Amino acid sequence: MSRHTHISAMDKLTEDLAKHLPRPIKEVITEFPDLVDILNEYDIGCGACLVGTCLFKDIVSIHNLPPEVEKEMMARLADVISPLPRGTVSAATSASPPKTREKTYSPTVKRLVDEHLLIKRWLALIPEVINNMDVTSGEGREVVAGGIDFISSYADKFHHGKEEDILFKYFDGQAEIIQAMHSDHETGRSHVKAMREALKKEDKDTIIKHLQAYGELLTDHIKKEDEILFPWMDRSLSETNKNAIASGFDKAERAMGAELPAQCETFIAALEKKFTHSSK
Ligand SMILES: [Fe+2]
Ligand SMILES: [Fe+2]
Repeated sequence: MSRHTHISAMDKLTEDLAKHLPRPIKEVITEFPDLVDILNEYDIGCGACLVGTCLFKDIVSIHNLPPEVEKEMMARLADVISPLPRGTVSAATSASPPKTREKTYSPTVKRLVDEHLLIKRWLALIPEVINNMDVTSGEGREVVAGGIDFISSYADKFHHGKEEDILFKYFDGQAEIIQAMHSDHETGRSHVKAMREALKKEDKDTIIKHLQAYGELLTDHIKKEDEILFPWMDRSLSETNKNAIASGFDKAERAMGAELPAQCETFIAALEKKFTHSSK
């Protein structure tokens, strides 16, 4: 195939894809399920990360792929929507496998990313907490209660509180991605409530069910924030707004008590030590 033929074939392909860009992503994926695998290769987890009505074009722009990678992905997506003769896409794009992109954050947003690290240490402990759970003894109930308190005080009030009351206020609250984050936070709160009630009744199975669900929810939630939402917010916020948000974070943290993060870190470190020793 000549270079000229490649270019006109690619133009046709781009035109066909353009018709679908203003449509909700879910609709396009339902029509062309093979798109999902390609989007996943570029860390665009539409199936998992969206509530439903985000537009195809917004998904692409929010992920901010480097231009050459975006071009390559779009060509591959277009080829699913409107297949061209074999070889057209690979000849017209670099077809290099997508690399995991290193994320960089402003100091303001990095504060939240760093808080995710302590929450992830707790998430990593959940299987051990479940394996060793004993709600019939005082000591066993204390471990569960401590874990629930960590979720409620650090992950929710300290961390999600700053996201909801400060950072997210700088964005359109009706935007689907913001609503999806709020919805995850609310689901987390309902797991906490259910675990507290189950602990009172020494109902181990119910605690485990909600703790596992919470672990899966937060793992996915943090990934979405670290990889998609926060980089996008960082690109959208002015320096003035980032500074105002940082001051808001300072104020909120002072109101919650300066000692809270250290206390929570101590709790997690003690639990890590306990389970490291007990597994030896
Ligand atoms: Fe969040
Ligand atoms: Fe977060």
